[in-house]
Amino acid sequence: MSKKFYITTPIYYVNARPHIGHTYTTIACDTVARRQRMMGYDTYFLTGTDEHGQKIERAAQAAGKTPQQLTDEVSGEFRALWDRMKLSYDDYIRTTSDRHKEGVQTLWRQLRDKGHIYKGSYSGQYCVYDELYVDVVGPGAPCPECGRPTETVQEENYFFKLSAFQEQLLELYTQQPDFIRPETRRNEVISFVRSGLRDLSVSRSTFKWGIPVPDDPGHVIYVWLDALANYITALGYGQADDAKYKKYWPADVHMIGKEIVRFHCVYWPAFLLAAGLPLPKSIVAHGWLLFEENKMSKSRGNIVRSETILDVLGADALRYFLLREIVFGQDGSFSFDALVQRYNSDLANGLGNLASRTLTMISRYFKGEVPYPSATAKNASDDAIAEAARKTIADFHANFAQYQFSRALETAWGLVAAVDKYIVENEPWALGEKQDEGSRTRLATVLYTAAEALRIVTALAHPVMPEATGKIWTQLGLGNIRELNLHELQWGQLKLGTRLGEVQAVFPRADKSAIERMQKMEEQGRAPVAESKPEENKTAETKSEDKPKAVAKPAAVAPEGKITIDDFAKIDLRVAQVKVAEKVPNADKLLRLEVDLGYETRQIVAGIAEAYAPEALVGRKVVIVANLAPRKLRGLESNGMIVAASLEGGKPVLAAFLEEVPLGARLK
Ligand code: MSP
Repeated sequence: MSKKFYITTPIYYVNARPHIGHTYTTIACDTVARRQRMMGYDTYFLTGTDEHGQKIERAAQAAGKTPQQLTDEVSGEFRALWDRMKLSYDDYIRTTSDRHKEGVQTLWRQLRDKGHIYKGSYSGQYCVYDELYVDVVGPGAPCPECGRPTETVQEENYFFKLSAFQEQLLELYTQQPDFIRPETRRNEVISFVRSGLRDLSVSRSTFKWGIPVPDDPGHVIYVWLDALANYITALGYGQADDAKYKKYWPADVHMIGKEIVRFHCVYWPAFLLAAGLPLPKSIVAHGWLLFEENKMSKSRGNIVRSETILDVLGADALRYFLLREIVFGQDGSFSFDALVQRYNSDLANGLGNLASRTLTMISRYFKGEVPYPSATAKNASDDAIAEAARKTIADFHANFAQYQFSRALETAWGLVAAVDKYIVENEPWALGEKQDEGSRTRLATVLYTAAEALRIVTALAHPVMPEATGKIWTQLGLGNIRELNLHELQWGQLKLGTRLGEVQAVFPRADKSAIERMQKMEEQGRAPVAESKPEENKTAETKSEDKPKAVAKPAAVAPEGKITIDDFAKIDLRVAQVKVAEKVPNADKLLRLEVDLGYETRQIVAGIAEAYAPEALVGRKVVIVANLAPRKLRGLESNGMIVAASLEGGKPVLAAFLEEVPLGARLK
């Protein structure tokens, strides 16, 4: 029986649309899963969406939707993107599914029945963004993880006896040094656990959007306990059919971003230890994808959508770029310039060019059949390529096993460069013009060597670029690349006389306009997530494109002195947070503000300087008219207007909220 391999991505929150940060983890897992399958493992690859919790409930509220509507919509977008990219996931788990709920409730009961859950009361700060209890004091104190203001929570809760697992966890990290990778993350976790663990609040009673606590439905299960359990519920844990759980659990790898290491390396193993279940074999954390120097995230409004890159360069280009450009484990920057540059140098001019020149010459000089190398026509340069290829195979495997994708690819592209040089030095085109026997056999040897090196790079790169390598494989006349056993890949397996397929360019060069096109698409696409569309006001007729305009519902007419709801809907009032506030020189009344809308930051010049000191405004949430036409005040562009009550004498008092509101929420 073949060995099994189970790999998971984090399950993504549905408060934000998918962006290339999510794609990064998912393609890394997809690549590992594909490679493991090619190495003969019975592989299971899981991804999905994390759909409960206060953050999602509020995002839905802000978008004017029910949580279920929002989760269905965004979860569907993630899945549609993965399908468009032809990712090879075996299952897609949603935490709102019945199978998941059933599994989580079983896990809860197991923890409770074994005495690891008790009722107590919690009073402290909670970060809704991270869905994390934090050790800071005072209302609004910033979250140590993300810097956002925390909220005070005072509730009767269920607690998990995390403190009881401190020693067992430390022992685990010592006995299984590979449990947490890379080393830096492992050290951070060890020092966190050594500093002492407190029991963890694992239920909430102040909102509803979660899985009810068994036998106490006034509480919902803490979203991280709910979410982490996906790794086993997806396999059938706690359900009637748990055959997959028995077969694939424990996971070989949970791949995650570095910001959720604590949940995976401390809480998750503690829950499993408490429930008496086996632990995952390893947790591999990668760094962040940065855009314009910051972590790409919806709240910073600096995301890049994968669709833009798929439209212009295709999935393989994105996959190759992310895995080649970023050293796995470290942070790395994304830019369209770098993407196009890498695409052209490594794919269009690199692998693509090697494939087309080699295969075209075999077609031209040997009627499309892989020629026979001749021992008598051999020289040291041929042996050097064979040797380089053998070393490449070994190095590639070794680096991949350590998740060092960029080094593995660098090694393989080192071989591409060596073969390019070899071709230039051996001038097959010149040999092809000569008819003598010596030139013919030398030409055969050179082209065989180039084609065999091409076959090896193509095979190694297949898990990274499934589509393009599949095409090159067919052009090499080798059939379906999925049937290849990577474990057995060796120099010299290309059969003489193999008939090539039709030769076509695989990576057409991208010109400068590709960068501009992608930038433009991003600017247009950067809209707030789950923007509420007034669908409910539309009639069936207005929604249907092919009905004549005349049947559309007539616009409502308001009595004199009143406006209609449609008139009001034209004003885009939104919650924003002041990030920067400063006096405008030589203008007593004006302040220059930079406000964060969650999906973008903008400058507003406001006449409130006499009522508010700039430093009192930073961090404060305000209401702005977001779609006001920009205008210039004292030479500064003002992009929106802050809403305030105007008291006698014109003194402004800023509108504010009593409850926590997410940035970008619309007032209506
Ligand atoms: N729902 C939790 C995870 C629960 S897992 C049991 C969550 N979701 S998330 O939507 O915020 O996704 C976080 C993960 O997405 C990161 O850990 C990482 O894998 C990926 N990334 C999201 N943005 C990223 C970058 N800018 N850069 C790299 N990875 C990023 O946390």
